[in-house]
Amino acid sequence: MLSGDIAKQYLSKYRNASSNQIARKLAEDHPLIFSNSEHARLVVRYYRGALGKYNRKHLSSNEHIRSIEEGMALKYNPFGLPEAVSDFWTPVTLPFKKGRGLVIADLHIPYHDVEAITIAFQWAKKNNYTDFVLLDGDINDHYTISRFEKDPRKRSFRQELDDTNKLLDALGKAFPKAHIIVKYGNHDYRLERFLRNRAPELLDMQDFIKDEYLKLKERGIITVPHDVPIKIGKLSILHGHEFQNMSTAVNPARGAYLKALECVLLAHCHRTSQHAETSLSGRLDTSWSIGCLCQLHPEYARINKWNRGLAGLEFDEDDFQIDNKRIVKGEVR
Ligand SMILES: [Fe+2]
Repeated sequence: MLSGDIAKQYLSKYRNASSNQIARKLAEDHPLIFSNSEHARLVVRYYRGALGKYNRKHLSSNEHIRSIEEGMALKYNPFGLPEAVSDFWTPVTLPFKKGRGLVIADLHIPYHDVEAITIAFQWAKKNNYTDFVLLDGDINDHYTISRFEKDPRKRSFRQELDDTNKLLDALGKAFPKAHIIVKYGNHDYRLERFLRNRAPELLDMQDFIKDEYLKLKERGIITVPHDVPIKIGKLSILHGHEFQNMSTAVNPARGAYLKALECVLLAHCHRTSQHAETSLSGRLDTSWSIGCLCQLHPEYARINKWNRGLAGLEFDEDDFQIDNKRIVKGEVR
């Protein structure tokens, strides 16, 4: 069934619900059709006629269109204040309630480390972390489209995406029954930034350019935008760039805890660390940062404190456990 048909069913069923409420429910109930609630909200708003005159003209039926008065009556706005430009943002949840999976991040394709990724796959299979694989950001480096100075002799954008396709093929073969989740990071966001600055007319084609080229929908991969956290019970999973100045933290896990003030798992700093604090009333919160799976001395950061690493994550509803590991001398420790 197409996304529009499903959205129309929900619009009929939940006529008085807000577009945000319907979008959240759609994204939760149909994660393979709606990549996130923002995607679902766009479809809902389209059928409600809220995407402008041009789009309204192309609707085959006016059934779900609400008049301004009707929309206003359903909102709490007794003084008739002007409509605000909405910027809907909410963390996403995974479409499954329990599992044991591998979390890896910062591959920075084409500067990935083949040996480290192989070790991570082997460790996950050996320890039964095979229900899902979460790629927690910076899957690509996007060196060629970065805003920093670059060497034109380095590899092409197309080569980078071709290599990413090969990695996703290999991942699918290694973990045939696993849900694959791709959470984008700041390097992955370079494409959108490039388009915003250099070719804003193509912004609507972003999915076509990257997600389509990587066949993410066809592969059944769940994607999470670069600025949206994943929520599993009391644990938030971020790439890490969503917090400002994370890369300068002495201890990345502690730095993340001071910003989140609750349990959080992140990557981005390319360093393995853990931090725990108990509150006055005895609430224990822990934060983790995981190592990277890329080369350790790239041109833009020859000297650094990075280490390679991975994590095993097991969760059942709200309960979770994390096994945060380093890769040292070819071994998981
Ligand atoms: Fe990174």
